[in-house]
Parts: sequence; C-alpha cells; structure tokens
Amino acid sequence: MSKKPLNIGLVGYGFMGRTHTNGYKRVADFFPELGITPVLKAVCGRSEDKTKAFSEQWGYESYETDFEKLIARDDIDAIDICTPNDTHAPISIAAAKAGKMILCEKPISRTTPEGEEMVAAVEQAGVANTVWYNYRRLPAVTLAKQIIDSGKLGKIFHYRANFLQDWTINADLPQGGAGLWRLDAAAAGSGVTGDLLAHCIDTAIWLNGGISDVTAMTETFIKERMHTGTGKVEKVGIDDACAFMCHFENGSLGLFESTRYARGHKALYTFEINGADASLRWDLHDLNRLEMYDHSDEGPQRGWKSIHVTDGEHPYMDHWWVPGLIIGYEHSFVHQVADFLKALEEGKPCEPTFKSALETAKVCDAVLESGKSRQWVNV
Ligand SMILES: NC(=O)c1ccc[n+]([C@@H]2O[C@H](COP(=O)([O-])OP(=O)(O)OC[C@H]3O[C@@H](n4cnc5c(N)ncnc54)[C@H](O)[C@@H]3O)[C@@H](O)[C@H]2O)c1
Repeated sequence: MSKKPLNIGLVGYGFMGRTHTNGYKRVADFFPELGITPVLKAVCGRSEDKTKAFSEQWGYESYETDFEKLIARDDIDAIDICTPNDTHAPISIAAAKAGKMILCEKPISRTTPEGEEMVAAVEQAGVANTVWYNYRRLPAVTLAKQIIDSGKLGKIFHYRANFLQDWTINADLPQGGAGLWRLDAAAAGSGVTGDLLAHCIDTAIWLNGGISDVTAMTETFIKERMHTGTGKVEKVGIDDACAFMCHFENGSLGLFESTRYARGHKALYTFEINGADASLRWDLHDLNRLEMYDHSDEGPQRGWKSIHVTDGEHPYMDHWWVPGLIIGYEHSFVHQVADFLKALEEGKPCEPTFKSALETAKVCDAVLESGKSRQWVNV
C-alpha cells in the first residue's frame, strides 16, 4: 500500500525535538494501518552547526536556521513546535497564516490571551492542530479514561495530583539557556504551574471535566539568579512551587501540588480519583500500572488491585509486544503521532486541540492570579 506523505518541519532540536522525531520514525512500523506517513523533511534551529548535526544524526532531509524560512517552504505540510514557551505564539501564528498544520508543545502559551490569539489563528486558517499533552496517551492513563467514562467509579468526590521534582534546589543554576529557560519568566511564562501542573490539569480536565474555581499558594524560594542572556543577577519571576485546591464542574474537589524542590523526586507525577463505587490511582514512575479499588468486588476479597496494562485488549498495546511486556515514556509520543495521523485521515480534530488546551491555560492563569491575591478565582 502506498502511503500519503506528511512532510514535517520541526522547530527546536532539544529534549522534545528528540522525543517527537523518535515518534515520527517509529509510527509507520508499529501502526502499519495508517495511510499517512510522516517524512522528516527539515529541522530548524538557530545554531547552524548544531542543527546540521541533529539533522544528520536523526535523518532529516534538510535543515533551516530561521523558522520563517521553514514555514515559507512549499515542501513542508506540518510545523512541529519544540521550542520554549515564548516562541509558541509567533511560530504558530506564522504557520497558521501560511496554511500549515501545527503540532505545538505544551503549555500552549505563556498566558491565556496569547493562547487565544493562537486559537483564533488556527481556526481562521482552518488548519489541523494539536498540543502535545502526551501523558494522555500512556496506556494506563487512557485505560483510566475508559473506566471513568464507563461510569464504573460512580459519583466522583475527589481528584488529586502531584508533579514533584528536585532539579532547581541549587541556587547557582542560572536562568535562561538550554533547558534553563524554564527559570526565566519571560521565556517560560510561569514556573511549575505552566510547566508541570499544566500536565496535571490537562489530564484532570480530560478525566474529570472542567474546573470552575481555584485557590492557590505559590512560592519562589530562590529570589535571584544569574541571567544567561544579560550576564547579570536578576529577580526570579517564576513560581518554584505551587499548590492549589479547586472545584470541578461535576461537584468534586481537586487538590494539586507541584514543586522543583522535593529532594529525591525526579518526575513524580501521580494522580488519584475517588468515586462512590471505585477509585483509581496512577504513578508515572510505574507507568504501565493502573491501581483500582472496586467496591463491588466480593467483601472479603475487596482491596486495591494493580492492573499491569500490557494486554492486547489494553489501549494501544496491540501495537507493541506480547502481553506482560512493558513500553515506556517515549511511546506516548509515538501514540500522539499515530492519533494525529488517524485524525487527519478521518477528518477529525486530534485532542487536545489548541482550543481544548486553552482550558488548561485558563486554569493556570487563575492559579497564578490566586497565588498573588490569596483569593478564590473563577476560571
Ligand atoms: N510534553 C512534555 O512532556 C514536555 C516535556 C518537556 C518539555 N516540553 C515542552 O517542550 C518545549 C521545549 O522544551 P524542551 O525541554 O525540548 O527544551 P530544550 O531547551 O531542550 O530545547 C529547546 C530547543 O528550542 C531551540 N530554540 C529556542 N528558540 C528558538 C527559535 N527562536 N528558533 C528555533 N529554535 C529555537 C533551542 O535551541 C533548543 O534546541 C517547551 O514548550 C516545553 O514546555 C514538553
């Protein structure tokens, strides 16, 4: 079967540039039923040497050093944005104006108004778009969605999530530059709220519906850091830690915490949801397992069970190995590419679209506002 090519122009060759490229390279082998196949047409970065080296290592046909040139190319169908958050809006808006499809990294934008401009641009242009909230595509998380949607949990009372790291405790870390742009509010928009809680909020909205209002506590533990751009010690504008409570539209209560100061934790993303009839919990460090407590089990045998989400009947797993054998973090990106291509074939949106991802941006903005005002804020 000859497949229709989808020519990818990837911007940014850092951490996400690698995960996405791996997704494009793996998808046709493991999802052979897809009629569209990605082609690594061009990668774009600002440093010619590094971009060329990435392009050769990963197998791109060509490279560019200016995203506007990449967008202007007739042989590019889709622009994939793997750059810091301050670049998402300019690259997306230019790509939409040029009629390109867009796959944009999360968070969609630094602020809600910036995200609104992006949504308007893709809707006006009518181009396919998606935001890489890849944790939705881990089989155990998708299974949680299927169980919740089946009504098995009954009325939902509680949702709680954490995303804990420890990599910014060192006060000598500068703000700005590769990876460390996350500590620079101008580039990142916010700290753990937009970076880590955005993942927790996206999953929460997907699993448990909209969030109506929030009250938050934010803290910046290290107030000044050297800025790599200016070479001067400058005020730190991001939230180093954030905890918030919220009401969901379904009447349940939410509790979220994120920090980069939890010594010993590297990427501890966990969530738990409690319903009248059953509960579920999940932990990124053990990502192939979903834990479930089902109150309808026979009394003496009732208890938490751990589902090893590796059977062919589990989401996505019929595309991988044999039952009992696990997959990893990188597969969530392969799944997102597969879902994007399938949605294109079917002429449907690939969730979360820019418009859906804007809901997470609105919650993040309300959380940050509440952190400052110490008041409840409506989303
Ligand atoms: N989905 C996830 O789980 C996940 C994980 C990490 C990062 N992210 C998101 O991905 C994006 C990138 O993060 P990262 O960790 O890959 O960062 P990174 O620092 O590893 O890489 C960023 C890349 O962008 C390049 N870049 C910066 N400005 C550019 C410009 N104007 N033109 C071209 N290239 C430019 C840098 O040179 C670098 O190659 C961010 O929005 C981040 O929030 C998402």
